[in-house]
Amino acid sequence: MFTSNWSPLNLKPILSDLSFGDGESHGKISSFAVAGIFVLLASLVQYVRTKQPSVDVPVEGSSGGLSAYLYAYEFIGNAKSILGDAYYKYGRGTFKIPGVERYTVVLNRRDLIEEVTKASDEKVSFNEASADLFISKWTFGENIIKSHYHIPIIRNRLTRLLPSVFDDVMDEIEHAFNDLIPAAVENEWVAIPTLDTARNVVCRTSNRIFVGLPLCRDPDYIDLNINHTIDIMKTVFTLIRVPEILRPIVSPLVSTAPRNIRRGMRLLGPILEERFRLYEDNGDDWPGKPVDMISWLLDDAPEDERRSVRELTKRMLAINWAAIHTSSNSFTHALFHLVAEPEYIEPIREEVESVIKENGWTKVAMTKMWKLDSFMKESQRMNGINLVSLNRKVMSDYTLSDGTFLPKGTFLNANLRGLHFDESNYPNPDKFDGFRFSRMRGESLEESAKHQMANTAADYLAFGHGRHACPGRFFAVNELKAMMAYLLMNYDIKAEVEGVRPENVYHATRLNPNPTAKVLLRKRARA
Ligand SMILES: *[C@@H]1O[C@H](CO)[C@@H](O)[C@H](O)[C@H]1NC(C)=O
Repeated sequence: MFTSNWSPLNLKPILSDLSFGDGESHGKISSFAVAGIFVLLASLVQYVRTKQPSVDVPVEGSSGGLSAYLYAYEFIGNAKSILGDAYYKYGRGTFKIPGVERYTVVLNRRDLIEEVTKASDEKVSFNEASADLFISKWTFGENIIKSHYHIPIIRNRLTRLLPSVFDDVMDEIEHAFNDLIPAAVENEWVAIPTLDTARNVVCRTSNRIFVGLPLCRDPDYIDLNINHTIDIMKTVFTLIRVPEILRPIVSPLVSTAPRNIRRGMRLLGPILEERFRLYEDNGDDWPGKPVDMISWLLDDAPEDERRSVRELTKRMLAINWAAIHTSSNSFTHALFHLVAEPEYIEPIREEVESVIKENGWTKVAMTKMWKLDSFMKESQRMNGINLVSLNRKVMSDYTLSDGTFLPKGTFLNANLRGLHFDESNYPNPDKFDGFRFSRMRGESLEESAKHQMANTAADYLAFGHGRHACPGRFFAVNELKAMMAYLLMNYDIKAEVEGVRPENVYHATRLNPNPTAKVLLRKRARA
């Protein structure tokens, strides 16, 4: 039924896929077109060799042969409605779906999702799925696949230290907004590019904790990290279609990663070298040792990375990619909701004002802003971070408790789009209900903990769920709330076009906020 509007002449999804989907233009159009045709042919060859996994669940779309390949392109253009409809079509049951690279088994039942998040890494691997999905060998580098020592650093040290670094977070947010909105004077509206601004503020604020001053404000360093974030996604789009044996040849043509790494080494090199010397002179600890990501990485890195500017730079770029891409999208989504439904502005502003009056700009204050938390969480419910979540690769034959046999090599994910828009999980799911979660939290003590933004559930998958849920989510939630609270206290906000939320951009299972839409800001008179 979803292939009904397919025709051989409908090449738009294919072509937009090859132009990396972001609508960003390239100078080297013709070489990209040649590379694009080459990649398309190579991917067809690869696809023909791909076997449908012998998993006994219904196939959504078309099974086998060229029609499945074409359906995979249909999915690139229409993933949102396909995932949403298939959720009900198969009675919230498991189905599989052909993609350009592979078939994926899509889980929809909450008990099966819980089960998969609890399965051992030897059975069902998050890291192996990520390495494949982001072709990490060519984007983040071999060491990132080999060791994930930065994950516990982000999950534990960064989260634990949040209260003590919160002043720095706040200071950087304030400076960043003031630098980026210089024309904002009282009584005058200025239009700011929302996503660009969000990326810049998130990059600076995160790096205040990662590398500290002055590097976190260095325009060259900011430009690098933001561009690298975008470049990685472009490289993934292109290279993932290329059969593995051809990647060493195609990668240098399409990947800017080596250039970005060299640029990163130039910027981070002097700071890292200086820190190596301090460790040399003082041992592992000394009074006044900087509390930042550089110290944490040097404390925990494996032997072959501990004193390597190159490897530490790659690690820092990867951490930045994870921090910037997700948080800036999330902030932009929420701000677009806020300007489209401005009746939310006053209640949230009043909450922020009264909490700050009592607690100052502190981490504790952030936890007391229930309305703001709820608003940001509702925005993530509707926009997700992606249309699917919980990507996993089956590492050895595995049978789900409902009897479904998953052979080694099967790719799995969970239907975030279906679950987040299921009436039985969220009444009136198509309506943006900014205080949905703060109302639920008001019901009891247990509910109040369960529906915080940073909490995950089998029906709330924006941060994933279980052991491999986003390790940076506590930092991210506080950063995002602090940014929004700061903006509300210091600026009046309105939409470019009254009552209109700029449209999301969908591409396969990815979604982004409109990359060019603006919001209007006006400096508020100081109370
Ligand atoms: C980074 O991206 C921006 C926007 O696409 C571009 O103007 C800038 O030149 C890029 N920086 C480098 C060093 O390539």
